[in-house]
Amino acid sequence: MPILPDFLYGTAWKEDRTAALTELALRTGFRAIDNANQRRHYFEAGVGEALAAAYRAGIVTRDDLFLQTKFTYQRGQDHRLPYDPAASLAVQVAQSLASSLEHLGTDHVDSFVLHGPSSSYDWTDSDAEVWEAMRKERDAGRTRLLGVSNVSLRHLEQLESAHSELPAFVQNRCFARVGWDREVRTFCYQHKITYQGFSLLTANPEVLQHPPLTAPAAQMKATPAQVVFAFARSVGMLPLTGTSNATHMKEDLESLNLTLPPEVVKAIESMAG
Ligand SMILES: NC(=O)c1ccc[n+]([C@@H]2O[C@H](COP(=O)([O-])OP(=O)(O)OC[C@H]3O[C@@H](n4cnc5c(N)ncnc54)[C@H](OP(=O)(O)O)[C@@H]3O)[C@@H](O)[C@H]2O)c1
Repeated sequence: MPILPDFLYGTAWKEDRTAALTELALRTGFRAIDNANQRRHYFEAGVGEALAAAYRAGIVTRDDLFLQTKFTYQRGQDHRLPYDPAASLAVQVAQSLASSLEHLGTDHVDSFVLHGPSSSYDWTDSDAEVWEAMRKERDAGRTRLLGVSNVSLRHLEQLESAHSELPAFVQNRCFARVGWDREVRTFCYQHKITYQGFSLLTANPEVLQHPPLTAPAAQMKATPAQVVFAFARSVGMLPLTGTSNATHMKEDLESLNLTLPPEVVKAIESMAG
């Protein structure tokens, strides 16, 4: 697998359809899968089943894939925890990743992401402890790269001013009304961090109906969703899709072949916020 994929298939909220949909995504051509060891929203063992089925069917090998998972604080979990809540945060991180590797049937993931900082305002001492534990997992070879999710510019600046190692990835919900998360994207660009955008469609339903998007879509015989994903790629984002629909899976991957003229990219980027 190249160091960075070009599209991530997201596996949240699929419950007992997780295995079948993830296998379908692999058969359709996705090679990068986003998970979390958070049973409340993800069924990671189901992703592991899909991987095993795809290996057996000869669709992919582990080396073709980019597998990403996350560590989620207890606050974001239900009772189905992948670690001992009485253990230190550092031990929780190690237990969570060990459990992910078991779910996914692999000895390493490609990216291990902090699902969200402990405070929506500051990068706290708890986050620093978790981040250090995540770095140890990376140094031990259990993940190639590290990421953080649901972060503000302030979190990233605090990480930087504490002279902490910066992540390889930021994964955020991408709202068009704030310039498609412009502040955070700019920080990422300046620090060579790859920005992963999720909820590109669901966070921006109004944008999908506006002429800066619908006009080029009609002209290029593409869907507005495809234009959103092509736009995301044009501004350097690594987009996520979690579609459960076979046609949408194909269309989303086909959007990688769409090239938007610079003036269209500019118009979409500035249409809100
Ligand atoms: N880090 C975090 O905290 C966090 C939070 C949320 C999500 N995520 C990740 O991001 C992934 C994607 O989640 P998301 O919030 O972006 O929403 P999503 O699960 O991708 O949902 C997209 C919605 O748009 C619809 N849709 C219509 N046309 C589509 C098209 N052409 N392509 C794709 N979808 C289309 C889908 O319906 P159909 O299914 O019918 O296509 C679906 O209802 C998740 O699975 C998860 O891996 C991460």
